Amino acid sequence: MEIHSTIDAMRAASRAARLGGLRVGLVPTMGALHEGHLALVRAAKQQCDAVIVSIFVNPLQFGPLEDLTKYPRTFERDCELLNKEEVDFVFAPSLEEMYPEKAVTYVTVEVMSERLCGRSRPGHFQGVTTVVSKLFHIVEPDLAFFGQKDAAQAAIIRRMVRDLDFPVEIIVCPIVREPDGLAMSSRNVYLNPQERQSARVLHRALQEIRSRFEQGERKSAGLIDAGKNVLAQEPGVRLDYLQIVDPDTLDPMKEINYTALIAVAAFVGTTRLIDNILLDPAT
Ligand code: PAJ
Repeated sequence: MEIHSTIDAMRAASRAARLGGLRVGLVPTMGALHEGHLALVRAAKQQCDAVIVSIFVNPLQFGPLEDLTKYPRTFERDCELLNKEEVDFVFAPSLEEMYPEKAVTYVTVEVMSERLCGRSRPGHFQGVTTVVSKLFHIVEPDLAFFGQKDAAQAAIIRRMVRDLDFPVEIIVCPIVREPDGLAMSSRNVYLNPQERQSARVLHRALQEIRSRFEQGERKSAGLIDAGKNVLAQEPGVRLDYLQIVDPDTLDPMKEINYTALIAVAAFVGTTRLIDNILLDPAT
């Protein structure tokens, strides 16, 4: 496994692979890797000949009061895990390499970037689309792999790729969960044992919505109330949003008459967690 920290070296290695006829896959991450990330790596290994994992904690997507400085950094361990998965390249640029000057050029997917997490984290999705654009230009992957865990992020990136004609195919992989249902996240390490217990309520709320849906409820208002009632049972959990939206446009849906994304974000103590499910009336 080769580790590159400069844009020039990464671009040269990726181009050489593509010129050699290999299908190049990129898995963008911020490190602190867990099974959710590794599932993306395994999907990339299956569908590509050369797999590149980027590890970069992107300051542009953190708000001024967010966890940028305390975000977990476990580079050595990440590399060991990636080596075991037989990843070909790790791209781990420094902050100075990615942003030698303060960025003044951004990629913005309008309207969608204000939805869901975009409402409570202003500028977040612009930071994501900007860094992902840079990574696409540096690596020039044939395929790029993202997780359904960050459903809005995946939808926004798919839209960016379509609108700006990036020559890359976006693959979205299912959410990987802990045995008790909690979606895996690098931020779960912030939770103390009691918060870790409380955090299960996000999944429980989504399951409650699913079961009401399976009983025939189609109105978003009713489904959201049912989910909120479950969340209210955990006093240590403060809801940020629980919404039912179109999975492609992120526009709110009043009723589920085609596949809907049910997305939740909540603070457990000071840790902000997200989760989601898709509900399809056709199945
Ligand atoms: P990060 O949070 O490290 O996540 C990297 C990728 O792993 C994302 O596509 C995310 O959706 C996926 N992922 C995380 N947890 C997952 C889980 N439990 N199951 C499945 N996939 C999961 O998302 C980012 O980094 C950044 O915004 C990034 C795209 C790298 C841009 O900076």
